[in-house]
Amino acid sequence: MPTLTILPINKAVEAAQGASILQAMLAAGVEALHKCGGEAKCGSCHVFVHEGRKSLSKVQRLENEKLDAIVGVGSKSRLACQALIGPDNVTIELLGFASGV
Ligand code: FES
Repeated sequence: MPTLTILPINKAVEAAQGASILQAMLAAGVEALHKCGGEAKCGSCHVFVHEGRKSLSKVQRLENEKLDAIVGVGSKSRLACQALIGPDNVTIELLGFASGV
């Protein structure tokens, strides 16, 4: 199972391949913002992916459109509710603020 490491709380959890980053965080008891319930509509689950980006699912249209509309987006940005975990370990950074609500 891939490991999801969550910064800055420095928590490492096992994540099911095919689960979204958001699902993996919630399953591990991490309080991650997800105001729209995971539908790529709010942007509150915006995270930076520091490692393992290439093994995540590709950015789809809905996620791309939402990322375009929120503040503080960079090349490492993903919506945790839309990025599905692949075979490799992933390290993400919680941004600690609701960037797109
Ligand atoms: S939970 Fe709303 S965009 Fe991810």
